[in-house]
Amino acid sequence: SLSCCTHVLGFSQSAAANMAEEAKKLAAYSAVDNNVQNNQAVGVGSGSTIVYAVDRLAQLLGELKPMLSLLPQARQLILQHGLALSDLERHPELDVAIDGADEVDAQLTLIKGGGGCLTQEKIIAGNSKCFVVIADYRKDSSVLGEQWKKGVPIEVIPMAYVPVSRVIAKRFGGEVNLRMAVSKAGPVVTDNSNFILDWKFEDVQNWSEVNTAIKMIPGVVETGLFVNMAERAYFGMEDGSVKVRK
Ligand code: 5RP
Repeated sequence: SLSCCTHVLGFSQSAAANMAEEAKKLAAYSAVDNNVQNNQAVGVGSGSTIVYAVDRLAQLLGELKPMLSLLPQARQLILQHGLALSDLERHPELDVAIDGADEVDAQLTLIKGGGGCLTQEKIIAGNSKCFVVIADYRKDSSVLGEQWKKGVPIEVIPMAYVPVSRVIAKRFGGEVNLRMAVSKAGPVVTDNSNFILDWKFEDVQNWSEVNTAIKMIPGVVETGLFVNMAERAYFGMEDGSVKVRK
């Protein structure tokens, strides 16, 4: 019957969700345990996976005394856990940055910004001696676009979103959409008061070149492409293991 099918579907969906949550936790715990040392300045990004990393840092606080230089979104999380809050003025160079990703390819090129935050995350990652990615098995790809179907997020100055969309579509192909709020009441506004374009790309060979070219378009603030930035990625796998890519 329909209700039976609904029940079965509901059950399997929640089982899959539980498995993904467990995988996020495994990746986050493993990344913290293997990359954070006593008295280090640690940067964290945003998203659901990073919550587990902050949990782990809080568990180890007595032992490790990590200092955290944080994005505004993570502030509350840090304070709730009794961790030390800092910023790039006091700690312009971080020892380690840990963050989630929407997709990670075989070369450790990332798509980030699915949650709307990418510029501040890139600043944190770019000013860290070591940038470590944490993700569940659904983010693990050989090439970008294999798993993540929503495209590359690009943060733009609001007045420029139409010309930037046109230039990207013309020069690089694919489809560019302004990200709308779930309510559809208006565009998503970022932590820097900008808009986000989602570029559904086709057939990109060289992400480094494309990233640089997009960044040169007037009005582009930052892209969600993280090229040659991550040193390691920790994936929590379906079988309960952790896969490390270097
Ligand atoms: C936010 C991000 C996140 O790191 C990315 O979306 C992953 O999030 P999650 O850990 O919830 O899967 O870039 O814009």
